[in-house]
Amino acid sequence: MTVDRLDPDADRDVDAWVALWQAITEHDLPDDLPPGRTEPSWWLRASPTHAVTTLVVRDDTGELAGAVRLGLPTGENSHMSWSNLYVRPDRRRRGIGRQLFEAAIAELRSQGRRTVSFDAPDSTAGQAFAAAVGAVETVHKVRYLYRFDRVDPATRDAIAVSAAEPSPGYALVRWIGPCPPEHLDAFVNAITGMLDAPLVDALDYVPTKPVAAEIRDDAVQIAELGIREYVICARSNSTGAFAGMTRVYVFSGGRGDQDDTTVLAAHRGHGLGLRMKSEMVRWLAETEPDLVQIETWNDATNDPMIRVNVALGCTRAEVWPTWTTGVPA
Ligand SMILES: CC(C)(COP(=O)(O)OP(=O)(O)OC[C@H]1O[C@@H](n2cnc3c(N)ncnc32)[C@H](O)[C@@H]1OP(=O)(O)O)[C@@H](O)C(=O)NCCC(=O)NCCS
Repeated sequence: MTVDRLDPDADRDVDAWVALWQAITEHDLPDDLPPGRTEPSWWLRASPTHAVTTLVVRDDTGELAGAVRLGLPTGENSHMSWSNLYVRPDRRRRGIGRQLFEAAIAELRSQGRRTVSFDAPDSTAGQAFAAAVGAVETVHKVRYLYRFDRVDPATRDAIAVSAAEPSPGYALVRWIGPCPPEHLDAFVNAITGMLDAPLVDALDYVPTKPVAAEIRDDAVQIAELGIREYVICARSNSTGAFAGMTRVYVFSGGRGDQDDTTVLAAHRGHGLGLRMKSEMVRWLAETEPDLVQIETWNDATNDPMIRVNVALGCTRAEVWPTWTTGVPA
């Protein structure tokens, strides 16, 4: 079997990629909704801050037996790769995973990258595979799910109302899609709060400052793909500055993804994280009636964010390790 490149502009390749993710989700995450088309299609696309190369092994039928997606940061992190390596459940234990891994390492070496990190739901196979290829677990994330059918509307409202009480000096500002130009600088500043998120040295990743043009161009591209971006920011009444932000992406198929949530250090301690997130789910319940679940990942050591998610009504789904290894020269 040969490894070749997936073409994100070829409908046939995108169809096969979506089908692969649907088969993987059904097998590895049986309680989840299968992804629709927009979400996996997005993963194939380069953004203003990273390139994407996807290497695949095809069956005779043209279906994908497995794939490794390399998310290749540009700029300060151009020495590493965020990656996902998956083999279709009915094609496992035949050497395809190892073949894809070796192809990924060769690709990264040719680009002069020195480190690669993979993540996946925890499993015996994933752990054994990581050990077999010499990768070590560097991050331990936990995935939580907000299921709209598990929190009744009255509870959702009550959580949002009580979450607003400790922060009378702040108002919420919201939009759907690319950030309105008048808020862009304040929004970019709020996102810098993510630079405080816990990180481990072994990931070989440097947190990078958000850049306004990149945030804007990324949002335009995401909207063009049919993904709806919902943003809520907290604004200080006294200074007018943004104190924090939260963002959710809504895909086809009833699925949503919780992206960043952050409160700048000077504004912590007023419950703004729970206030923004509880208002977000209330807003989404009104505007996105087909939305069934929002997933969110937290580093297992990030107690403040986990407390917010539990207070919101999220339930713990499973552990997602990140495994990291070097790219031999
Ligand atoms: C992990 C995964 C990629 C392995 O793919 P695969 O094609 O079955 O892997 P290979 O056949 O190339 O196996 C390579 C080695 O991994 C180990 N391994 C893989 N699956 C295993 C399992 N179920 N039990 C024990 N060892 C396993 C073995 O050491 C194996 O070598 P061997 O067959 O010579 O004993 C696949 O199970 C998968 O897609 N899982 C979900 C995603 C995931 O966990 N990705 C891992 C990211 S690091």
